[in-house]
Amino acid sequence: MAPQPLIIDCDPGIDDAIAMLLALASPELEVLAITTVAGNVPLANTTANGLRVLDLAGRADLPLAAGSSRPLIWVPEDDSSATHGETGLDGSELPAPSRAAADEHAVDLIARLALERPGEITLVAVGPLTNVALLAAMHPAAFAALRRIIAMGGASNGGNMSPSAEFNVWFDPEATERVLQSGQDVTLVGLDVTRQAILTSADIEALEQLPTIGPAVAGMLRFYMRKHVAWYGEEIVYQHDSLALAYAIDPDILGLVYCHVEVDTGVGPARGATLVDRLGVFGGSANAHWAERVDVERFRALLLSRLASLSCR
Ligand code: RIB
Ligand code: CA
Repeated sequence: MAPQPLIIDCDPGIDDAIAMLLALASPELEVLAITTVAGNVPLANTTANGLRVLDLAGRADLPLAAGSSRPLIWVPEDDSSATHGETGLDGSELPAPSRAAADEHAVDLIARLALERPGEITLVAVGPLTNVALLAAMHPAAFAALRRIIAMGGASNGGNMSPSAEFNVWFDPEATERVLQSGQDVTLVGLDVTRQAILTSADIEALEQLPTIGPAVAGMLRFYMRKHVAWYGEEIVYQHDSLALAYAIDPDILGLVYCHVEVDTGVGPARGATLVDRLGVFGGSANAHWAERVDVERFRALLLSRLASLSCR
């Protein structure tokens, strides 16, 4: 079976970095490009971090283009630098990038590739959906030419930026709502499942022994874990983005429900809330595949084995 062509739009971000490494380690995928967006940290940092991770994986041949430096409408007063560190990859000790990002804007790069391979490309978006919404607005034919969109985002039983909002959606709710209204095949992998997709201290100790990528991966995960211990009191690290990416590799990792999903784009306390209308109360037509169940051990086995395989290259 031919590898699945794929583009990753991300805001690295420690879990974004792990998702990138998983993709680059997986023969089921043909990673065509990486695009970056403001989110966890400012665009300059997410872009430099994307380049640094590609260098770490020995993939400086892959195109990386920077996208939007801010959400569509409102600029939040906060980001996730408290979680990922000021650099966005604190703990990794990765050197500066070996090259600059492409001159092309991320949205134009995705559009060009989508039109070159209509109906084939999966777009995995693991940051705020600003670039994806701009693609829908600026290049509707290219947006429609995507095979599907898999996004890490949303929460239906407790957020991480507010009681009801998950960070990627909270950072740009209007962009998420635009994508949900687009008619594209959208899968949303939210906190309901990603909070079960964890790595442990023992996993990090094992990863640290991997040649090439081990020290950097362990360093950033340890930094990430210290935040999880402080906030949740547990020695675990949630793998939000790599779970979303893993679904592109192995669809049996997740159980989904196809229903209407809507985002609160107001400016009140529920801004960025994901309303998952499983019972059809709104009467709106289904517009997203919402992830409800996860095979945690299947995911963990995939992630750990693929990271090990990458380090042997
Ligand atoms: O809520 C988790 C999401 O927000 C992940 O994508 C993480 O990288 C942060 O961007
Ligand atoms: Ca992310």
